[in-house]
Amino acid sequence: MEFRIRPAELSDAGAIAAILRELPWFESASKEPPEATGERVARLMAMCQRDSSHTVLAGECEGAVVGYASVHWLPYLILPAPEGYVSELFILASHRGQGLGKMLLDAVEHEARLRGCSRLSLLNGRHRESYAREFYRKIGWTEREAMANFVRVL
Ligand SMILES: CC(C)(COP(=O)(O)OP(=O)(O)OC[C@H]1O[C@@H](n2cnc3c(N)ncnc32)[C@H](O)[C@@H]1OP(=O)(O)O)[C@@H](O)C(=O)NCCC(=O)NCCS
Repeated sequence: MEFRIRPAELSDAGAIAAILRELPWFESASKEPPEATGERVARLMAMCQRDSSHTVLAGECEGAVVGYASVHWLPYLILPAPEGYVSELFILASHRGQGLGKMLLDAVEHEARLRGCSRLSLLNGRHRESYAREFYRKIGWTEREAMANFVRVL
């Protein structure tokens, strides 16, 4: 399959919502009508487009968006240069394992280098197939064994 990476546009919200709705672990999306997911994704993408602190990339196959990556450029005061935080990387099940995930991360890394970032980071559930298959490790990412991940649910 031939893939193309480009900046995501608001008109991609429906396709991105469909990718999210296919994943079994976002309960809020699977319980609402598809249009509601599409509207929320469009609203959040519009927020991302308001300034240069966010990048959403779309992965296309034959003109259809089949994967995407979302990155937030964070100017941590403790780092010599900003970090790119990859909050989302998802590929439609039918298009996995054919190189698109790596292509999207390569494009993220390219932009991070252009921005002079010091590093990229992301979270990967240890119970996920991608973790078991060592997707990130195989393409050069390092797991931070010493860090715990905390959230405070609001
Ligand atoms: C993980 C994911 C982003 C990788 O993208 P991809 O395009 O499938 O991966 P690539 O083709 O670039 O690289 C192949 C590697 O991806 C991983 N991969 C492939 N198919 C996969 C699948 N169905 N589920 C999870 N990981 C998979 C494997 O590590 C594979 O390497 P291997 O064949 O040596 O085992 C994609 O499979 C996906 O969206 N999975 C479900 C959602 C997810 O887990 N996202 C990551 C959250 S942090």
